[in-house]
Amino acid sequence: MKVLSGAALLAGAFLSCSVDAAASQAFTWKNVRIGGGGGFIPGIVFNPSRKGLAYARADIGGAYRLNSDDSWTPLLDSVNNSNWHNWGVDALATDPVDTDRVYLAVGMYTNDWDPNVGSILRSTDQGATWAETKLPFKVGGNMPGRGIGERLAVDPNSNNIVYFGARSGHGLWKSTDYGVTWNNVTAFKWTGTYFQNASSSYTSDPVGIAWITFDTTTGSSGSATPRIFVGVVDDGQSVFKSEDGGVTWAWVAGEPQYGFIPHRGVLAPADKTLYVSYANGVGPYDGTNGTVHKYNITSGVWTDISPTSLASTYYGYGGLSVDLQRPGTLMVAALNAWWPDEIMWRSTDHGTTWSPIWAWDGYPNLDFYYSYDISEAPWLQDNTSTAQFLSRVGWMVESLSIDPFDSNHWLYGTGATIYGSHDLLNWDTEHNVTIKSLAYGIEETAAEALLVVPGGAPLLSAVGDIGGFLHWDLDTAPAQAFHTPTYGTTHDLDYAGNNPANVVRTGESSTAIQIATSGNYGLTWSPYYGASLSIGPGKVAYSANSDSILLMSDTNGPLISKYSATFSAVPTLPSGAAIASDKRNGTVFYGGSAGSFYTSSDTGVTFTMTAALGSSTMVNQIRVHPTVAGDVWASTDTGLFHSTNYGHTFTQIGSGVTAGYSFALGAASTSTGYPVIYGFFTVDTVTALFKTEDAGLNWAMISDATHGFASSSANVVGADMATYGRVFVGTNGRGIFYGAPSGALPPVTVTGTKTSSSTLVTSSGSTLLTSTSSKVVTTSQTSSGSSSSKATSTTSTSQKMTATSTSSSSTATGTSSAYGQCGGSSYAGPTLCPSGYTCTYSNPYYSQCLQSS
Ligand SMILES: *[C@@H]1O[C@H](CO)[C@@H](O)[C@H](O)[C@H]1NC(C)=O
Ligand SMILES: *[C@@H]1O[C@H](CO)[C@@H](O)[C@H](O)[C@H]1NC(C)=O
Ligand SMILES: *[C@@H]1O[C@H](CO)[C@@H](O)[C@H](O)[C@H]1NC(C)=O
Ligand SMILES: *[C@@H]1O[C@H](CO)[C@@H](O)[C@H](O)[C@H]1NC(C)=O
Ligand SMILES: *[C@@H]1O[C@H](CO)[C@@H](O)[C@H](O)[C@H]1NC(C)=O
Ligand SMILES: *[C@@H]1O[C@H](CO)[C@@H](O)[C@H](O)[C@H]1NC(C)=O
Ligand SMILES: *[C@@H]1O[C@H](CO)[C@@H](O)[C@H](O)[C@H]1NC(C)=O
Ligand SMILES: *[C@@H]1O[C@H](CO)[C@@H](O)[C@H](O)[C@H]1NC(C)=O
Repeated sequence: MKVLSGAALLAGAFLSCSVDAAASQAFTWKNVRIGGGGGFIPGIVFNPSRKGLAYARADIGGAYRLNSDDSWTPLLDSVNNSNWHNWGVDALATDPVDTDRVYLAVGMYTNDWDPNVGSILRSTDQGATWAETKLPFKVGGNMPGRGIGERLAVDPNSNNIVYFGARSGHGLWKSTDYGVTWNNVTAFKWTGTYFQNASSSYTSDPVGIAWITFDTTTGSSGSATPRIFVGVVDDGQSVFKSEDGGVTWAWVAGEPQYGFIPHRGVLAPADKTLYVSYANGVGPYDGTNGTVHKYNITSGVWTDISPTSLASTYYGYGGLSVDLQRPGTLMVAALNAWWPDEIMWRSTDHGTTWSPIWAWDGYPNLDFYYSYDISEAPWLQDNTSTAQFLSRVGWMVESLSIDPFDSNHWLYGTGATIYGSHDLLNWDTEHNVTIKSLAYGIEETAAEALLVVPGGAPLLSAVGDIGGFLHWDLDTAPAQAFHTPTYGTTHDLDYAGNNPANVVRTGESSTAIQIATSGNYGLTWSPYYGASLSIGPGKVAYSANSDSILLMSDTNGPLISKYSATFSAVPTLPSGAAIASDKRNGTVFYGGSAGSFYTSSDTGVTFTMTAALGSSTMVNQIRVHPTVAGDVWASTDTGLFHSTNYGHTFTQIGSGVTAGYSFALGAASTSTGYPVIYGFFTVDTVTALFKTEDAGLNWAMISDATHGFASSSANVVGADMATYGRVFVGTNGRGIFYGAPSGALPPVTVTGTKTSSSTLVTSSGSTLLTSTSSKVVTTSQTSSGSSSSKATSTTSTSQKMTATSTSSSSTATGTSSAYGQCGGSSYAGPTLCPSGYTCTYSNPYYSQCLQSS
C-alpha cells in the first residue's frame, strides 16, 4: 500500500480509492482516561534482578510495563486487525539475567472462537518492540484459568532457556535460543487433565500447565538450573520436579491430594521452600475451598499453612508472594472471598501465623486494617450502592507481588484494577496499610458503544463489566460510572435527534430494568418502565422526538415502546437486525439484516424492506446524518452504502471499499462540507481505521504502526459533530482512544465549557451540571508516544468476540439463601432471594441477597 506523508494529505492530495491504494494521514491518539485499569489483571511480575522493573498482563488487552512514578506504559498497541488475538496475554516472563528481555505467550481463545494458533512474543528492549514465533497450537489469554501462573519462565542460570506450559493437552515446551524456536518436552508427561465444565467448548478445554518455577538455589551461572518445579492444572497429582535441568521429571512426593488446583508456586530461596496456593476451581470466578501449603525442599516435607482451616473455608487461594528481602515473610490472597469482601493475609514466620487485611469485630462490624485510596479512579466505588459490605479489597485476586527490592512496595490485581502501596511494612508495625488503585496508564476496558451527544458532555461510553461513563473530561477519570440503575455491562446508547438531552442506555443487570433514560444528556437516569425485568438488553434507538424507543433485545428480539408503554414485538423486523433512528424525522427508524434494509415510517410499529444492499449478507452498522433527515449509511460485509431518501435507494461507495464495521459521522472541515466519516473498513484490501472527507470518494488510513486497535470488527467508533477531526475508538480490551489529525489538535473540551465555578454550560447555553470538582477542562493534547513494533505479520480473519467474560445470563430457577449469591457474570445459580431479602448488585461478578430495607 502506498503511503503519503501527512503534509501532502493535509494539502488535499488524497488518492482515490478507485486507484489500487489508499492514503494515510497521521493522527495523534490518546486514551480517554477511565483510570484504574477497568478489568482483570491476571499477572503482575517483578524482575528479580533489576530494581523497579515490573510488568502486568491483561486477559484481552495486552501487557504493560511499570514506570518509576507508579504509572504503566502499554506494550502491545501496535497490534492490529491482522494479529488481533495477540492482545490476549496468557503468560509473561521477565529475564533475570539480561533484564531487557521479556517474553509473552499470546493468543485469545483455544476453542473455535479464535481460529489462529498462539505465539511467543520476545523483546530485547523491555517490550518496546517485539519479534514473534508462532506455536503449533493455540494460546488462550481469555480462557478459564488465565490467572494461574506464570506458565512462562526464563532459566536464571542459562537465560537462553525458556519454558512454556501449554493448554489443551499440548504439554511442556522449551526453547534454548531465547524463545526463537520451541520443542515439546516429551519427558514431561503430565499435560493437565482438568477442565471446568463439559457443557461448552469454552469451559471444556484442558487448562494445561499452571506454572514453572526454577529453584534458584541450585546450579551455577552458564548451565541449566537443575531443579525445576512445574505445577499442572490437575485435580490429581499436580506438582512435579526435575533435578537434572529438565531431562527427567517426577511427582513431588507427599503433595496433598484434595483434588485442588495449584494456582501459584513461589520459591523462597533463603529457606529453600516452595509455597503453593491451591483452590478447588481454576479461576478467575470460581473456587470455594483450598489450602496453602509449603514444601521444605531439604526435608521433602509438605506442611499445610492455610490461614483458614479446610473445614471452615469458603474460598480457595490464588495470589501468593514472598518478600525476597525478608526470609519468612509472605502474603497470600483468597482467590474469591465474595462476602463480606476479598481477604488476604501476611505472615512473617513462614506461614505459621497470619494476620488478615480485615477481621470481624462482632457481626456486623468489621475492623479494616487498611486505608482505602481510589483517588485515581473514584468510580471503583458506586456511591449509591446499598450493599451491606462494600467490596474494596477486590475479587479474582490471582496476582499478588511484593517488590523484590522494596519491602514497602506491593501490587495486586483484581477483577477491576491494580491495588498496592508503598507502605506495606506498616502491616507489621501498626497493622494498617494503604490499599490504593495504582493502575494509572492501564486502560483495559472493552467498549461496546460510544456516543457524542450534540450539546452534551464530550463523550458517553458503554463499557463491558464496569457499566460506562459520562466523560466530562477526556483526560480525567470519571467520578462515577453510570448508575441508578447500575448495569454490569452496558451494550448501547442513543440520543433523540430533535431533543438531544434525551438519552437512552441499555445494559445487563440481574436486579434492575435493563433500559434507562436520561433527560439531561446522561447526567442522571431513570429505569424505563416500558420494560419489565424480563426484557433483556441489546441495541437501542431513540426516536428523534424522544417519544419512542426501539430495542433489539438479545433475548426478546425487536421491541417498540411509545410514551413508556409496555414494549411490544415488531414482527416485521428480523431479530438481530442492526437498528437506528432518523435524527430529524420523528416517525422514522431504520433496520438492516442479512443484506436487506428496512424502514419504518410509523415510529417503529411496522418495518418494510425498502432496499437490498448489493450482495451483502450481513449489516454491521447503520448511522444517520445528525442534521439531515433521510440521510442514512449502512456498513456491511461487502462495503458501505448510502441513501438520501430514507433508505429507499442506496449507492454503494467506491469499488475499493469491500467491508465495513463500526463507523461514525463527525464535523466537516468546512461549515458547508459533508460530515467526515470515520470507521473500520476494508479499503483496497487493508482492514484498518479509515476516514473519508468527501462521503466515500477518497479514503485515508488513520490507524498506524503504533496504534493498530486490534480487531476491526470488535471495535466501536464515535465522532464529534462539533469539532473537526475529533474521533473516538472504543477497543475490545485497550479502553477508549480519542484522536485528531497530528499538528491540528483541538482542545480537550468540545461541546461544553466547564467554568471555574464548576458549572458545565453546554453549547446550547443550558447549565448541565454544577459539579463539586473545580477542574477547568481545557488542557491540550499531547502525543501518547507508545512503542513501535517489529512483530512478524500474521494473517488471520477477525471475528466478533465476547469481551472479558462469558455471558452472565442465568438459566437457573429456585431461590438463593439469605446473603447468598443471586447474580453476576458467569453465575448460573438461582437469582431469587428469600422473603425479606433483595438481590443487591455488589460488583459485575457478584450480586447478593441482602435484607430489604
Ligand atoms: C507434547 O508432549 C506431551 C507429553 O508427551 C504430549 O502429550 C503432547 O501431545 C505433545 N504435544 C504436541 C503438540 O506434540
Ligand atoms: C456446567 O455448566 C452447566 C451449564 O451452564 C451447569 O448447568 C452445570 O451446573 C455446570 N456444572 C458444574 C459442575 O459446574
Ligand atoms: C527444612 O527441613 C530441614 C531438614 O529437616 C530443616 O533443617 C530446615 O530448618 C527446614 N526449613 C525450614 C524453613 O523450616
Ligand atoms: C474442603 O475440602 C476438603 C477436602 O475434600 C473437605 O474435607 C472439606 O470439608 C472441604 N471444606 C468445606 C468447607 O467444604
Ligand atoms: C486503619 O487506618 C484507616 C485510615 O486511617 C482507618 O480508617 C482504620 O480504622 C484503621 N484501622 C484500624 C483497625 O485502626
Ligand atoms: C456520587 O458521586 C457523584 C459524582 O461525584 C456526585 O455528584 C453525587 O452527589 C454522589 N452521590 C452520592 C449519593 O454521594
Ligand atoms: C418523515 O418521513 C416519512 C417517511 O418517509 C414522510 O412520510 C414524512 O413526510 C416525513 N416527515 C417529515 C416531517 O419530513
Ligand atoms: C498490521 O501489523 C502487521 C504486523 O506488525 C504489519 O505487518 C501490517 O503492516 C499492519 N497492517 C496495517 C494495516 O497497519
